[in-house]
Formats: sequence, structure tokens, C-alpha cells
Amino acid sequence: MKFFIDTAEVEEIRAAHELGLVDGVTTNPSLIAKSGRDFREVIIEITEIVDGPISAEVIALDAEGMLAEGRELAKINKNIVIKVPMTTEGLKATKQFTAEGIKTNVTLIFSPLQALLAAKAGATYVSPFVGRLDDISHDGMDGVDQIRTIFDNYGYETEIIVASIRNPLHVLNSGLIGADICTIPYSVMTQLAKHPLTDAGIEKFLADWEKTK
Ligand code: E4P
Repeated sequence: MKFFIDTAEVEEIRAAHELGLVDGVTTNPSLIAKSGRDFREVIIEITEIVDGPISAEVIALDAEGMLAEGRELAKINKNIVIKVPMTTEGLKATKQFTAEGIKTNVTLIFSPLQALLAAKAGATYVSPFVGRLDDISHDGMDGVDQIRTIFDNYGYETEIIVASIRNPLHVLNSGLIGADICTIPYSVMTQLAKHPLTDAGIEKFLADWEKTK
């Protein structure tokens, strides 16, 4: 399974990259706003750290506007993936981006049928948001499972990026379902490495080692 990091904080990307855990990066307007930095500047800096897909989201709501923004973003680097919202205008833009050889990530997907439409439009990636569904008492992972089945039934090559990940269990279940990618916040990525028995084991080994002196 590929790991993308879901952040616009360059230092987090650098730290996770040093751990060898970053296959790509996803950003969104909220994450860019949180970073307090210029959008293009952040995206350019990320391209200098990670040699993998980097999602940059358009703001326009109409297909023409999305295409204009996306074409400019795509010029920044060959790894830029244009993130478009899952709307009918977003689907139109996705079809056109695909025809132009520009990769897309259709975002804000909350149902398997939305994912099917995005795949039919030629999306490179779909991003089902699991955490936001869990937040309203729907099992986000159920939808991912159904998307996996539909894509496999018809041989769609669109990759599934499990997004809106809140905890390690989301990552575990994504792996069991066979999702292609998880886009993970830095805090959850570091949580994945931790286990209390690992810490206790190290402590015990060191205590025993001291006794040999
Ligand atoms: C995905 O690409 C989004 O940036 C992200 O996963 C959204 O997560 P949130 O629901 O925690 O904001």
C-alpha cells in the first residue's frame, strides 16, 4: 500500500520523507490556509522534497475555471495531480484533464457511486473521505470496500486514496480492503510506528543489559 502524507506543512513532509514513508502528498485549501503560506510557493517546495504525486486543489466551481487553474498548476511540475471536487462540473473538468494527459484526484467522495462516476470520467485517483463519514455515524470504510469491489468488477485502473484518515485503524482497514493508497496526517503516521510493548521491550532489554556490567 502506498502512503501519501496529508498536509501542507513542509517540515512534516520532510520529516515523514526522512522515514521513507512518503510516496506522495495531498493538500487541500484548508491545509494550505492552516500553513499560512502562499499556495504556489508551498507546492513548489513540496515538489523539491517528494518525487511522487502531489495533489493541488482547484478553487473554481465551474469546469472552465477548474481547467484554467489546473493547467497552470500542472505546469509547476510533472508530479502535480489536479484535485477537483466531486461535482458534475468536476467530472467535466476531469474528462478534459485526462484527455490532455493531466492527472486528477477527484475529492470529497462520500459514496461508491460518486467514485464510479469519477472513474468513468477517467480520474487517476478518487478520494473517499472516511473520517468525515464516521463523524456523522456512517461507516466510512464500508464505502471504500464497495468502491474496491466495483473497480475490480469492471477493471477500472483509477486508484483509491483513502482520505480523511483519523486513526491507525483506518489505515489497517484500508490495507485489509486493498485500497491502493492512504493519505495520512503526520500525527497518525507517527502513531503507526508506536506500540507500548515495543517501548516496554526496549526498556527491559536496556535494564537487563545494565546487569551485565
Ligand atoms: C484528502 O485529500 C483531504 O485533504 C483530507 O484527507 C481531508 O481530511 P479531513 O476530513 O481530516 O479534513
